[in-house]
Amino acid sequence: MLTVHPFSVDLLPEVADFHCGNEVWDVEVSDWIKGPLGGRNSALTDMDRRKHPAEVWLHGDDDGNVVAFSSLAGATWKKYDRPISLIPNVAVATPHQGKGYFSEILKFLFTRARNDEDRINAVGLYVHPQNVNAISLYEHKGFHKTGDTWKDKETGVKYVQMAVHI
Ligand SMILES: CC(C)(COP(=O)(O)OP(=O)(O)OC[C@H]1O[C@@H](n2cnc3c(N)ncnc32)[C@H](O)[C@@H]1OP(=O)(O)O)[C@@H](O)C(=O)NCCC(=O)NCCS
Repeated sequence: MLTVHPFSVDLLPEVADFHCGNEVWDVEVSDWIKGPLGGRNSALTDMDRRKHPAEVWLHGDDDGNVVAFSSLAGATWKKYDRPISLIPNVAVATPHQGKGYFSEILKFLFTRARNDEDRINAVGLYVHPQNVNAISLYEHKGFHKTGDTWKDKETGVKYVQMAVHI
């Protein structure tokens, strides 16, 4: 079992070397956890939002290494009459991928999401369209593509929207 620590600015040094892959979409995810408060792609910025602030956690192994991070926020999607839970970002560090940690973390996130009475029992997320491994992994875990996308106006990338009922 991984340990779970709420993320905060004091823990930035713990994630300074966090690496989850070399592709553009992997680096975007690892940059998010390292980002400064006020940064455009930053966990601390998303935790500080007035509407749907993100909760972010570091997951550690028995030796005290940070092996992963995860997060949950809320989102208002037009097809739902109440907010759903949203996973802003989740990643397992490269040396620890393929060991089942993501599956453990997803169970943790689903439990947290189910216990949030302000949100309906659905979890959504956005994946970079070229991150085919993550898309197929999420489908393996029951998520489906909703058919909607979210376009990042600065980069032009259209992220694939996925959701699952929990
Ligand atoms: C995506 C990521 C989080 C997966 O973490 P992981 O710890 O390696 O995943 P796990 O070992 O727990 O495997 C999860 C499950 O998906 C399955 N799986 C793995 N790759 C798969 C693929 N390409 N297609 C379908 N299923 C896949 C595994 O068999 C496992 O299934 P099981 O629970 O039935 O045994 C990790 O590779 C990562 O951090 N990647 C970079 C960042 C990223 O893409 N984040 C997600 C987008 S926000």
